[in-house]
Amino acid sequence: MPVGVIRPDQADDFDAWFSVTQASYRHEFPGEPGWFHDERRAMALDVAAGKRTILLLATTNHAEPVGAAAVIVNTVDNPHLAEIELDVLPIHRRRGIGRELAVAAESVARAEGRTTVLCFQAEPPAQAGTSPGRRFAEALGYHAAQVEQRRSIHLPVDRARLDDLEARCSPLAAAYRIEAWQGSWPEADLEDLVELERRMSTDVPVDDIDFHEEAWSTERARAHDALVLAMGRRRHFAAARHLESGHLVAYTVITVPSRPERAYQWATLVLPEHRGRRLGILVKVANLRTIDPSETRDIVTWNAASNEPMIAVNEEFGAVCDGDGVFWQKTLPSSG
Ligand SMILES: CC(C)(COP(=O)(O)OP(=O)(O)OC[C@H]1O[C@@H](n2cnc3c(N)ncnc32)[C@H](O)[C@@H]1OP(=O)(O)O)[C@@H](O)C(=O)NCCC(=O)NCCS
Repeated sequence: MPVGVIRPDQADDFDAWFSVTQASYRHEFPGEPGWFHDERRAMALDVAAGKRTILLLATTNHAEPVGAAAVIVNTVDNPHLAEIELDVLPIHRRRGIGRELAVAAESVARAEGRTTVLCFQAEPPAQAGTSPGRRFAEALGYHAAQVEQRRSIHLPVDRARLDDLEARCSPLAAAYRIEAWQGSWPEADLEDLVELERRMSTDVPVDDIDFHEEAWSTERARAHDALVLAMGRRRHFAAARHLESGHLVAYTVITVPSRPERAYQWATLVLPEHRGRRLGILVKVANLRTIDPSETRDIVTWNAASNEPMIAVNEEFGAVCDGDGVFWQKTLPSSG
């Protein structure tokens, strides 16, 4: 079973790789859009926003694509870590292709100097606890480093509910101004974003994931902005400005893909020294008010199951748990 590295800038190779990942994903999650072609291609091509992606394709001896993997390495921090993704076409499963791909992906990770491999697996709800991905990860010596939960907020969120949350929370946040906008993060506040992104990388629970603080700079923040634009995603931001210092100290981001039926909650953070003033709820209220419910049916959000404060905030907006996932992790032997 040949497994080779392919280049994302070669359209036929990338299309073959993407079609395997899509067929696999649709099998596990019928009706879910998953990643779109142009988003995934932009991510695979990007080298400026702090990550580099190596794509692997498994083919039959007749060059038919049957399995796909990605190895994603951080380039400015976490030099020990590689994230991997693995997919095998449903009709070709249980023939050792997944194992072969994993061995190849781990070997790429090692060649990149990585000693920890992390693999996120969303579990199909009907197979929770018994999914092929779980059985596979366990068979290959991975352990569950963090349990994740998926929640969806169905739109529109009742206006009265938003008004009520805002009325209850605003008195505690008199020292802040809530701002909401779409597009990019303003250049004038870029240093604040750098600090928020850095803190986001360590202030959320990592449980047993061997993940260290990310290194953010204004260059990286701009590169990340360019990447999201290349992916074709629109962003809705809301943030809390501390009136005394003038800094943005809490933020939340919702991204809307080019086919916008589902939107995705990305980061939400309140800097620890500004917690307890209901800023998490207030930035989310402000952001949800800007989402057009005629375009977007649901906002999907993933949280660590251990992240009780964030889950409690999401449940204030009617978020309903509708799926689980696991970050599987393995320490690689230093050679071999
Ligand atoms: C997980 C996945 C990549 C496995 O691919 P595969 O080609 O079927 O895997 P392999 O045939 O190499 O299986 C290797 C071992 O994993 C275990 N395994 C794999 N699928 C299993 C299943 N459905 N039930 C029980 N064990 C399973 C077995 O121990 C198997 O060895 P064996 O066949 O000798 O018993 C594939 O099911 C898939 O694409 N799933 C959707 C995406 C996903 O979950 N990715 C992995 C995230 S960790």
